[in-house]
Amino acid sequence: MTSDKIVIAHRGASGYLPEHTLPAYAMAYALGADFLEPDLVATRDGVLICCHDIHLDRTTDVAARYPDRARADGRWYAADFTLAEVRTLAAQERFDAAGDRVFESRFSAAAQGFAVPTLAELLGLISALNRQSGRCVGVYPETKEPAFHDAHNLSLEPPLLALLADYGYVGREAPVFVQSFSATHLRLMREQLGSELPMIQLIGDSPDEADHITPAGLDAIAAYADGIGPDKQLIADSAGQLVVEAHRRGLCVHPYTFRADQLGAGYTDLGTELSAYYYGYGVDGLFTDFCDIAVELVYPQQPRRLHR
Ligand code: G3P
Ligand code: CA
Repeated sequence: MTSDKIVIAHRGASGYLPEHTLPAYAMAYALGADFLEPDLVATRDGVLICCHDIHLDRTTDVAARYPDRARADGRWYAADFTLAEVRTLAAQERFDAAGDRVFESRFSAAAQGFAVPTLAELLGLISALNRQSGRCVGVYPETKEPAFHDAHNLSLEPPLLALLADYGYVGREAPVFVQSFSATHLRLMREQLGSELPMIQLIGDSPDEADHITPAGLDAIAAYADGIGPDKQLIADSAGQLVVEAHRRGLCVHPYTFRADQLGAGYTDLGTELSAYYYGYGVDGLFTDFCDIAVELVYPQQPRRLHR
């Protein structure tokens, strides 16, 4: 069963299980997502791990386990830890600077047994599940803070492209989208490293990213990328015109991030919000923490909804 709309499981089924963990990815797979999204950072020994932050202290127990390894700014950086050290950490539900959980109603913060996976482990999981199910679920990796990694001699792009190639992700038709907020690093992959993989230019809602959504900005993106991943508010603010203009240039549109427990302004339930973006604004896919609700919309014949 296929659709021209795609469901991207943002950090796994992160509405239900701790983000960026193999259980969260396995659940997203079972719930019917089309793509599983990992954010990527590098360890000190250059291994790509699935983690949203260049810091480890908001999603693991690193502060308790390695109390004297924070930098002067009081943060624990993945780039300062070897993979062997990262393997000793327990992944947890995300918490904020004050130590409070970001999403109160989500999975228990006290639960144990979750680990920080490597990208290779995630690709292995997807490969095995695709083989067993006959499905073709893809991967949607994001390079996090590539300039920071360059400055630490831990550039993300060469190992990312090599690992993807190891798992068969090569060429225009591969079931993958490589995403980044850095135009420089997307262009590096396409123009210098010779990657033909589909690329997505992420666009935030900060003033310094506003050039991306001008006509000239979209023209420029179309020269090195295949689509845009805008903050969903940019689409609402344009009354959907951003989707029209992107499509006019052959760019697909995958906005972020849709959450049942953090709805967009004016919405009272996630199904209605998702429907407005898929079928009102006409986006081609979207990032959501609750992929079951998106799957229910896009594949109504295959209900797998968990959320009530
Ligand atoms: O990659 C799309 C979306 O995930 C970007 O935001 O901060 O959740 O990585 P973030
Ligand atoms: Ca992301």
